[in-house]
Amino acid sequence: MEPINVFDYEILAEERMNPVYWDYFAGGSDDEITVRTNQSDFGRIRLRPRVLVNASKCDTRTSVLGAPISMPILVSPSAFHGMAHQEGECATARGVGAAGTLMIAATDSSRSLEEIAQVASGPRWFQLYLYPTREIAAGLVQRAEAAGFQAVVLTVDMPALGNRERDRRNRMTIPPPPLVRANFAGIEIEGHAWSPLTWDDVAWLRSITSLPIVLKGILAVEDALLALEYGASAIIVSNHGGRQLDGCVTGIEVLQEIVEAVAGRCEIYIDGGFRRGTDILKALALGARAVLVARPILWGLAVDGARGVQSILEMLHSELERAMILTGCSTLASINRSLLQIT
Ligand code: LAC
Repeated sequence: MEPINVFDYEILAEERMNPVYWDYFAGGSDDEITVRTNQSDFGRIRLRPRVLVNASKCDTRTSVLGAPISMPILVSPSAFHGMAHQEGECATARGVGAAGTLMIAATDSSRSLEEIAQVASGPRWFQLYLYPTREIAAGLVQRAEAAGFQAVVLTVDMPALGNRERDRRNRMTIPPPPLVRANFAGIEIEGHAWSPLTWDDVAWLRSITSLPIVLKGILAVEDALLALEYGASAIIVSNHGGRQLDGCVTGIEVLQEIVEAVAGRCEIYIDGGFRRGTDILKALALGARAVLVARPILWGLAVDGARGVQSILEMLHSELERAMILTGCSTLASINRSLLQIT
């Protein structure tokens, strides 16, 4: 089968992957309700196209925190790309660079941040888990600065690991041998030391780096406002792909109220269930500056390495362009709330 959309890649990736690894990527917490609502909530929003507008030369170039990118689609951090492809995050970085957009490399990578930086041709940000100690995390941030990462993305929705029952049944350990936490080579880490963060940790992070800070995992207006107070340059509205608190709100349903409360004081991105260009258009119309995807990238990576990653991004890009043409939007700036009808 020649894949023509991201769902085709999903089928091919599942056929190809070790089923235990597949479950780790595909699964969510508890009953996986949120994994499903992340996608189904787009169905509650309908597009209200304008006609007789020639938008055929639509332009999707934009920037995030000053970094120019070809499309408002970024790669969300996800752990251990080595489960999908032997070149791991290095293949991902090459595919993302070829598509002209930005990758957020994860603390829990199967390739080190320096190896990723070496092959990355575009802008890159570093996702931080603040563990096992502040000192070790500070060391990672310094290495990320030295390797040309342009922002630190602190994940804030992991005070404990979600109850991932597929992984428990599969006796899946993280990282699964022979994969390693490449960023921690030579550093002793016991088990999975998730430490519950507080706003003090955000203030601490602000004090140890001059890089912009992005908080990933915001769902409440109150927290978006606190993020501003604590000096975040951007937030990612996210429920961690339905992998943490099952039954929580979806990003797309809270996006508008967060955009309104933040009122332009920081950039706002969103992830969770984006599979079509029209999904992306809906988030942009609600005020997101960009959207992020993770699982589709892993599908592309599993099927065809760097080329698969590039192909996923190009498919989403061309679907977004088509959706813009069909709704009469020739620029990203012309995409606004009037395009939507929410039921
Ligand atoms: C996960 C963590 C590692 O979702 O981010 O599996």
